[in-house]
Parts: sequence; structure tokens; C-alpha cells
Amino acid sequence: MPKPQKHVFVCAQSRPPGHPRGSCGAKGGGDILQTFWKEAESRNLWDKFAVTSSGCIGPCDIGANVLVYPEGVLYTGVAKEDVAAIIDDHLLGDNVVERLVAPKEVW
Ligand code: FES
Repeated sequence: MPKPQKHVFVCAQSRPPGHPRGSCGAKGGGDILQTFWKEAESRNLWDKFAVTSSGCIGPCDIGANVLVYPEGVLYTGVAKEDVAAIIDDHLLGDNVVERLVAPKEVW
């Protein structure tokens, strides 16, 4: 397995309905994860980045959250429709998707 150039962590944490913190799982985290995997597979991008399901990253209330290393960029409020932009602009193009970047007081 080649060492990935970037590593994407998609929060897919779930919590019981009504939990005060909510969860990325309830905001589409699972769909976002599946969309990343599907895109990577169909476009044969596995040598460019890895995608891993993660537990809670922290700011649950503004999820769904996606974290990209080595840059340490946290994207918040992500929807599955945003996955293509994260792949094309950031993971392949090295341009951060500014509209999704977590506010400075969060990360
Ligand atoms: S549940 Fe995703 S950041 Fe907490």
C-alpha cells in the first residue's frame, strides 16, 4: 500500500436521538463517508489520499465534520454534495475549500 499524500477523517459518530450534542452521524456523516469512498474508487484515487471513518472530532453542533491531514484543515457543515469540491480543490489541487473551513474560534 502506498503511503497516502493526504488523509481524510470523516466523523460518522452517532448518538441517541435527542442527545444534547447531536452528532455528525445524524447530519449525514455516513453518506459523506460513502461518497468519499465511492469517488476514490471510481476515479482510482487511492494513491492520492486515504479516507477513514472517525469518531467525534469535537464541534458536533456544526457538523458534519471532515478533517484533512497533513494540513490539519477542519471542514464543518459538510454535506455529501461538498465531497467533490474537497476532492478536486483540496485533495488533488491543494486549494482549501474556504467556504467550508471551520471558524477560527472553533479550530
Ligand atoms: S459527532 Fe462529529 S464532531 Fe462530534
